[in-house]
Amino acid sequence: MLFLKSILFGLPALVLATDIQRCATKSPGSQLKGLHVAQAKVDSQNRLNGKEALDNTFPKVSVNTYVHVIASSQVDDDTPQAQIVDQINVINRAYRRHGFTFLLRNITRSFGKDWSSIVPDTDSELKIKSALRQGTYADLNFYIGNIGDGFGGILGYSTFPDYVSRDIFDLDAVVIDPGTLPNGTISKYDLGATAVHEIGHWLGLFHTFQDPLGPIINFGDGCTADGDFVYDTPAESSPAWGCPEGRDTCTGNSLSREGKDPIHNFMDYSDDSCLNLFSAGQMARAHVLYQQLRLDSNNINRN
Ligand SMILES: *[C@@H]1O[C@H](CO)[C@@H](O)[C@H](O)[C@H]1NC(C)=O
Ligand SMILES: *[C@@H]1O[C@H](CO)[C@@H](O)[C@H](O)[C@H]1NC(C)=O
Ligand SMILES: [Zn+2]
Repeated sequence: MLFLKSILFGLPALVLATDIQRCATKSPGSQLKGLHVAQAKVDSQNRLNGKEALDNTFPKVSVNTYVHVIASSQVDDDTPQAQIVDQINVINRAYRRHGFTFLLRNITRSFGKDWSSIVPDTDSELKIKSALRQGTYADLNFYIGNIGDGFGGILGYSTFPDYVSRDIFDLDAVVIDPGTLPNGTISKYDLGATAVHEIGHWLGLFHTFQDPLGPIINFGDGCTADGDFVYDTPAESSPAWGCPEGRDTCTGNSLSREGKDPIHNFMDYSDDSCLNLFSAGQMARAHVLYQQLRLDSNNINRN
């Protein structure tokens, strides 16, 4: 039950697709939600003044990226360096046009019983991450390892940016299953989009189908209220699976942001081949949160 409670983002996945859990990122804290609410107000004022978010106005940000491969033994490590480089290229194809570039700084490889899996909310997660974390809070630590078999396999999870304590600093990371890398072994999720999605959370973004009102993310109806707090991602009541062209789950709801479901948005759950964009509003938000939470000098020097 503890485990069930802790993986709030992923539960609908469980109901709708019995074989995998697309994302096990936890529910965001009230601090981050508060920043989204405040920034959504700024965005809406800007739009009243005729100022829309535009990619070419975003700052250029380089994010040092430290990759850590973990496996129970060297023989079980089937992640060649070329595949990691391919993954970084997929990430940069998604983000670079919006001002973010991820620079591969180092790859570490750790083998043994203690490194056999990196399951959310376990002692071993904290142990592994504390041992391997590099860089500052502005830098990305990116773990490639077996996440465990909860609900038939978790593809990835991430932490959100936050105000930092020692534990939060150590846990701060994206984690993905090696099968989700480009040319990976997990059918439909083998083009590297899981990493792009999880980095979206790492930058502070929510799911496009998010219901911010419910005590538990996803349990309510993503059609109502503010959804992901981003104005240019149409409201969506639940995650999309496969690639349901034309899906529109929030018609006729006067409260919701109109438009077809954002099934091609990286913050949805569609198949990798279906995911290919972020909205300008999402990336404007990511830049604000990156500046406020990750580049803020009070937050950064924790290592
Ligand atoms: C990569 O990280 C390891 C572990 O901290 C360190 O020993 C090694 O020197 C680093 N390599 C580079 C190229 O920075
Ligand atoms: C894809 O993976 C397979 C098996 O894991 C490997 O044999 C093949 O060389 C890889 N292809 C590319 C383009 O990396
Ligand atoms: Zn997610």
